[in-house]
Order: sequence, then structure tokens, then C-alpha cells
Amino acid sequence: MSGMDGLALATRGLRKSYGSRRALDGLDLSVPAGVVYGFLGPNGAGKTTTMRVLTGLIHADGGTVELLGRPFKRGDRHRLFEVGALVEAPTFYPYLSARANLRELAASGAPVPSKRIEEVLDLAGLCDRANDKVQGYSMGMKQRLGIAAALLSDPKLLLLDEPANGLDPAGIVAMRDTLKALASQGKTVFVSSHLLAEIQVMADVVGIIAAGKLVREGPLKELLSMQGVVKVRVRPNLVDAAIETLAPLAPAERLTETDRDEGWLAVRLATDRAEEVNQKLAGAGIYASGLESGTDLEMLFLELTGGQGPSGGEGAFVGLGGLNGGAPAGKGTAA
Ligand SMILES: Nc1ncnc2c1ncn2[C@@H]1O[C@H](COP(=O)(O)OP(=O)(O)O)[C@@H](O)[C@H]1O
Ligand SMILES: [Mg+2]
Repeated sequence: MSGMDGLALATRGLRKSYGSRRALDGLDLSVPAGVVYGFLGPNGAGKTTTMRVLTGLIHADGGTVELLGRPFKRGDRHRLFEVGALVEAPTFYPYLSARANLRELAASGAPVPSKRIEEVLDLAGLCDRANDKVQGYSMGMKQRLGIAAALLSDPKLLLLDEPANGLDPAGIVAMRDTLKALASQGKTVFVSSHLLAEIQVMADVVGIIAAGKLVREGPLKELLSMQGVVKVRVRPNLVDAAIETLAPLAPAERLTETDRDEGWLAVRLATDRAEEVNQKLAGAGIYASGLESGTDLEMLFLELTGGQGPSGGEGAFVGLGGLNGGAPAGKGTAA
């Protein structure tokens, strides 16, 4: 297929319905090789459905999938030895240890050298507990074992569906480091999450989906360095006056009312210009009762999630003005 060079994974026009419910509605994804790709979308957006199609667990109603440069078709499940996946909650023998479970898996799949088992236990941070029975594992440890299992065949492409679920903050940090290290070795990591903050700290490239469609895709740095957004709240009856007052700061298409009833306006403006917004309004006798700044990406995600902050509700937008400079300190690790 043309235009897909250098992509480890691509979907074009992917469609899938469950009865009358449309889960994927013409999904186009372009995942470059050798990156951590954050597949982000609110709950119900179609992430798991996509993962299930990509791993051959279900068939799409239409569209195409290309894995590692070749079309992936019905009946191609044998090709999945090139792909490691953690999609459904992995099942393990509870009465066996992690190490013994991985040995069982290795025996049932493509042959793996026994030192590989030790490598993946190490990568997943399970060495200390590798001889303990899995039935005593926490959800986070089972999740790590799932990641270890997905890595067993040393796949070029790794598909992980919400792998941070059930991990504690330290576990998420460890996983982020593991995934980044894999990408730096040339592997492609396709990882989903419903939390923007989680994806922001690990992904090189981000794809945002909503209602089974791609909404935004690109390098995280590029998406974050786009114009920031300053949100300001005024008395609802002063919204029009505020828009007029702020007009010199931003052309009309960059100035929107996000919630007239509550008096919220959004100005697409570098976040360090929040002060100017405040000053202008005050100069016109309009006193802001709220002022927040963040990025376009956050605002987009807030809109997609119906105002529910990506890191847990109200105020998620506040104080993230420094996002362009790096990771949001101390935010969003709570899954
Ligand atoms: N087995 C199923 N039967 C019916 N509807 C489903 C099934 N799985 C998912 N859906 C629906 O498809 C949509 C996408 O779901 P899903 O892919 O699980 O989203 P996500 O993983 O992004 O939360 C949702 O509306 C969900 O309710
Ligand atoms: Mg899901």
C-alpha cells in the first residue's frame, strides 16, 4: 500500500459494529515504527475494539489493517508471533509461579530460549517474586506478568490495551521506562489509555479517537506546542462584552465561548499571556472569577470527555501552563 512506508501499523477505514452499535467508524491510524504511540480516547471510544481487531480476536466489518508493512487479513493470526499483545485480562495458572507460567507459555508458542524468560521477568520488574504463585499476586503484578508474556517472543510490535490499569504510581513509572526503552531499541509500542496525563508522560506520538474515529494524530511535542489556551470566567451577562474586549488579543476564530451559562470563554493564546487577558478585562471593568490555562490538547480531551478532566474531574485544566516544558509534575498518575 502506498503512503504507509515506515509505519509499523496502519489502519484505513476500519469499521466494526456490535449489532446496531457502531464501535469503529472509519478509523485511520498511522503508527510509525520505533515509537511509543499513545492511543488515547475516552471510555467507549473504541480502543479495545481496535486492539481486538489488530490481534485477530474479532473481525472488522470493513477497512484494512497493515501490520509491519504487510496487510493483515482474516486467517493471518499465525502472523501474530511478530506481535506481542496484552488485550484482554491475561489468564495464568494461579497455582503456578510467574516463571512457571512463562515456561508454559513458551512451550506452547514459538520456541523461546530459556534466558528470554529471565529477561522478560526483569523487564517487567518481577524478578523478586518470580517464584511466587500467581494466585497471591496483586492486580498490578498480574498486569506486569501480562506484559512479560507479551514480550516473550521478542516482538517488533507490542500492543497494550490500558496496561496502566491496576498499576500503582511507581508501577506506572516503571512501565513507562520499560516501554520507552523498548522503543529506543527500535520496537514499536502501541499503548492505549483513557487518561491524557498518562499518555503524555510516555508517548512520542499520540492518536486521539472518539466514537470510533480519529480526531487528532501526531508527534506529542507538536501537538503540545500548538497554541495554548487560556480559559476565563466572567459573569454570564458580560460574555458578549468580554468577547468584544478580548477581540484585539485574538481573532474571532480563536475566541470562543465554551459555556455561556457559566460564563466561560476560551482564548487560543500562548499560556504565558493569561495575565494580559486578565488585565484587558479588568481594564474594561470586567473582573474574571476564574482563569485557567492549558493546552489545546487538554481542551480537546476535556471536550471529548464531556468536561470530565482527564486526570480526574474539575480543575484538571488548572495550572498546567508549564506543560509545554515537560511532564506535568505530580499529576495524573492515579489511574
Ligand atoms: N462485545 C460487545 N458487544 C456490544 N457492544 C460492545 C462490545 N464491546 C464494546 N462494545 C461497545 O463498543 C463501543 C466501543 O467499546 P470499546 O472498544 O470497549 O471502547 P474503549 O476500549 O475505548 O473503552 C462502546 O460503545 C461499547 O459499549
Ligand atoms: Mg477498553
